[in-house]
Amino acid sequence: MEKYVIKGGVPLVGEVEIGGAKNAALAILAAATMTDETVYIDNMPDESDTNAMLQAIASTGAFVDRVGRHEVKINASQVNNFTIEDYIKKIRASYYLLGAFLGKYKQAGVVLPSGCNIGLRPIDQHIKGFTALGAQVNIEHGIIDAHADRLVGNHIYLDVVSVGATINIMMAAVLAEGKTIIENAAKEPHVVDFANFLNSMGANIKGAGTDVIRIRGVEKLHGTEYTIIPDQIEAGTFMLAAAATKGDITVKNVIPKHLESISAKLVEMGCQIHESDDAVRVVATRRLQNTHVKTLPYPGYPTDMQPQITVALGLASGISIVTESIFENRFKYVDELTRMGANIKVEGSTAIIEGVDMYTGAVVSAPDLRAGAALVIAALTAEGYSTIEDIQYIERGYEDFDAKLRELGGQIEKVDCDRDIQKFKMKHA
Ligand code: EPZ
Repeated sequence: MEKYVIKGGVPLVGEVEIGGAKNAALAILAAATMTDETVYIDNMPDESDTNAMLQAIASTGAFVDRVGRHEVKINASQVNNFTIEDYIKKIRASYYLLGAFLGKYKQAGVVLPSGCNIGLRPIDQHIKGFTALGAQVNIEHGIIDAHADRLVGNHIYLDVVSVGATINIMMAAVLAEGKTIIENAAKEPHVVDFANFLNSMGANIKGAGTDVIRIRGVEKLHGTEYTIIPDQIEAGTFMLAAAATKGDITVKNVIPKHLESISAKLVEMGCQIHESDDAVRVVATRRLQNTHVKTLPYPGYPTDMQPQITVALGLASGISIVTESIFENRFKYVDELTRMGANIKVEGSTAIIEGVDMYTGAVVSAPDLRAGAALVIAALTAEGYSTIEDIQYIERGYEDFDAKLRELGGQIEKVDCDRDIQKFKMKHA
C-alpha cells in the first residue's frame, strides 16, 4: 500500500494552482447523462472519486471520452443499463446517478452509497424529494431503486440543509412537469455551479445560492460546454498548510469569495490575507493565536475544512474550541494527532484544543479524505519523520497533493515499501 513519508519543519512557500471542484464535478458528471447530445466538461479534477464516477457512467453504456487530463466528453445517447453496481460502491456521490437517471429515464437503481466514514449520513431527504415528485423509491438487497410513470413538480421543504439532496432533487425536477420549489436548500458554491451547468443544458433553475430554488420543468436538455469552478476545499487546505507551517502561500485560480469564512478565521489566528481577483495569499510569520470555530452550511465555516483548522489550532497559543455541527463522527483523526503530541480533548461534537509548541513525527493513518489531508499538514509542521498510511482516502479528493506540496518546499514523497522510506530518510537526514 502506498504511503506518504514526510520530514517536517519547513515553512511552505510559493504558489499553488487549484484544480476543479471535486464535489461540483461529481454532480456535473452525473447530470451530463441527462441529454442525448454530447457534453464537454473542462477543469475536471483527476482524482479517484471523479474517475470512479466516470467508470460508473461508462458502465451504463454512455460514451466517455477523456480528451485530456482535465477534459472529458460524455455522450449518453446509448445508455442501456439503469442499475449501477460496479465501480460506484465506494463513492457516496453515486447517488447523483439516481437523480440523473430518474429525471431523464424515470428509472434508476444505485448501490447504497458508503463514502468517507464521517457519520451516519442518511439519505432520507433525497428520498423525500423524489417521492414528492411522484417517484416510488425502494431499498432492497443493498440497492436503492427509484422509478416513476411521470414526475410532477412539487413544493419540497428540506428538514436539514443538504448539499446532496438539493442537487439530487434539482436533477429529478428539471425534466418534471411543472414547477418545483426547494425550500431550505443548500447554498454551497458547488450547488450554484451545478445549477449553472444544468441551465447551460437548457434547464430553468432560479435562486441557486439562496434558501429557495425554483425550477420550471423543461421537455429536454441539450449538449453544452462547461468549465467547473475551482475547488474551495483544496484551496482552503493549502491556506491552512501555510498557516500551520508558518509559511507564505499564494493559492491561485480560486474565487476568493468562496474562501471568506476560511480567510476570516485565519485573520483571527494572526495570519495576513491578501486577496486579488483570482488568488489569495496567506502569510503566517508568527505563532498562531487561538480562536473558536463552528462548522455550518455555506456561507458558514465548512465541515470539510474542520480537521485542517483543528491541526493548525493545535499549534496555536491558548485554548481553542472547534464544534462540528454537520457530521457527528468527524473527530476520529484526533487520536492520530494525539500520537503526534497534540493536546486535544473531544467531548461529543466539540474539540477542546490546548495548543502545543510543536508536533513530533509519528506513523499515523488517514481515517478519511479531509482528516488525511490535515494529518499531512500536521506532519509537515512536525519535528522529524512521519508516515501517513491509507493515503487512498486523500487521493479521493486531492490531485497531485504530494507534488503540489513539494513545489512549495514540503519534504514529502509517496512510497510503497519500507526500503523507500529508508531512502527518503537518508536523502533528508
Ligand atoms: C456533501 O456531502 C459533500 N460530498 C461532503 O464532502 C460535505 O462534507 C458535505 O456535503 C457537507 O458540505 C459531496 O458533495 C459528494 P449533506 P453530502 O447532505 O451531500 C444530513 C468531502 O470531504 N442529511 O449536505 O452527503 C447529514 O447527515 C465530502 O469532500 C440528512 O439528515 O452532505 C449531514 O448531517 C465528505 N438526510 C447534513 O445533512 C439526508 O437525506 C449535511 O449533509 C441528507 C443529509
